[in-house]
Amino acid sequence: MNDTLTFQSSRPAPPCTVVIFGASGDLARRKLLPALYNLAHCGQGLMPSNSAVLGFARSAMTQDAFRAAAREAVNKYSRLKIDEGCWRGFADGLYYQSGLDRPDGFKQLKARLEEIERERNIPPNRIYYLSIPPEAFNDCIARLAAEKLIAPPNAGYFTHVVVEKPIGRDLSSAIEISRTLHEHMDESQIFRIDHYLGKETVQNLLVLRFANSIFERLWGSRNVDHVQITVAEAEGVGTRAGYYDHSGALRDMIQNHLLQLLTMLTMEAPVTLDARDIMEAKLNVLRALRPIRGEQARDCTVRARYTEGRIGDTEVRGYLDEQGVARDSRTETFVALKMFIDNWRWSGVPFFIRTGKSLKRRASSIVVQFKGVPRILFNRAGNLHNNLLTLRIQPDEGFSFDVVSKHPGLDLGLKPVRMNLSYSDEFGADSSPDAYERLLLDVMEGDHTLFPSAEYVRTSWEFVQGILDAWKDESIVPIDEYTAGSWGPACADRLIGSIGRGWYEP
Ligand code: BG6
Repeated sequence: MNDTLTFQSSRPAPPCTVVIFGASGDLARRKLLPALYNLAHCGQGLMPSNSAVLGFARSAMTQDAFRAAAREAVNKYSRLKIDEGCWRGFADGLYYQSGLDRPDGFKQLKARLEEIERERNIPPNRIYYLSIPPEAFNDCIARLAAEKLIAPPNAGYFTHVVVEKPIGRDLSSAIEISRTLHEHMDESQIFRIDHYLGKETVQNLLVLRFANSIFERLWGSRNVDHVQITVAEAEGVGTRAGYYDHSGALRDMIQNHLLQLLTMLTMEAPVTLDARDIMEAKLNVLRALRPIRGEQARDCTVRARYTEGRIGDTEVRGYLDEQGVARDSRTETFVALKMFIDNWRWSGVPFFIRTGKSLKRRASSIVVQFKGVPRILFNRAGNLHNNLLTLRIQPDEGFSFDVVSKHPGLDLGLKPVRMNLSYSDEFGADSSPDAYERLLLDVMEGDHTLFPSAEYVRTSWEFVQGILDAWKDESIVPIDEYTAGSWGPACADRLIGSIGRGWYEP
């Protein structure tokens, strides 16, 4: 079939300067610079050729060194390979400025921006991408404001500020960050990134649910037995122990990515595809989450950290032996939760979500298990395989649907079979842009659809704060252990075993 319906076409964004705060960091190297290169790539041309990228960080570096580092990053991580012509055009618009931590650093930033805008003949459309630790957000915003680097929303040109997760480390710090942001700018200028929302498969949740008549009719407690959401990573903490050991899986993954998956999966149909309507529908799910507080955490949460093991052919050391992790660390690298959404549609349906590092392999999926057929006819003698809808978020993006079929032959034998759609088979291997490409393009265009609002972030923290508080008492939910390379601790199996079910391998 070749009848694609397009609802939003990507047009070249308005020319602008993207300032990456923390440009020498991991995120800039692995994600931001490759994504910007792809947007500027001649094949796509979504970022106008006179746009600029200004790396802003603490350490001194020459412009040439920054361009060379950017080339190396693009070479290693970009979806589209380097094309010399495109690269020259892109590199020409790459600039670097040190002094992020110096008292006069923001004054110099302002002068540099004006110089770049003159040189490239672009309006003062500016994107400030704060790829810096959350503790530094408030100060950074205040300094931008003090130098009058934040234009009012109706200036005729734009200032868009991108805030990376984690937005705070608990409810009160998240509220504080939000207060500072709103003190200096309008909500329409703020873009809170959750890169899971930029993933092709996550966006497809909306299409799958609301562009097909069959699923929506089955979507709810009448037909769904339970739901599993797994985000498994094979990587350990790597070089990020400094950040991670103060964060842990609940803050790093559940508060944002997994709750986003859950709300996308379960929200009511939004009134329109407008950003505000979608956000409202998702927010209503968060509002309906049954809180997990105090003693309830015992039955509904598990936490664990990895011990040494083997992933594929690689020996992996235990979390406590990772470089940069405190010897007496109490940080979890694995979390599983049993959750309920107390609204009309989902009343009584258990949702099991889990995420962890150093697991068997990288695999993220959502499994919707439908209820069994009545115990009459084929189901009389024992359980039949339940219908399962499996949405594979990564890798091998796609989805499958398990049904029971007759096994060909003279006997009446039944066999579960899988109907499968693989994105790469259907649409081609390189068809999916990286999440950051889409999100950066949206920031340039001022489209908020894929960015959580202040209220959404606050409400998600409210839910997570209940668990953080309960976990302060280690006797309620002790930290368990799992061997690196396994699928997680035994207590996670017991959690889902509490309803007589087991985890599907993602
Ligand atoms: C980040 C977390 O937000 O998401 C990391 O901070 C995690 O700890 C990463 O590894 C996972 O992203 P992805 O896209 O690789 O699933």
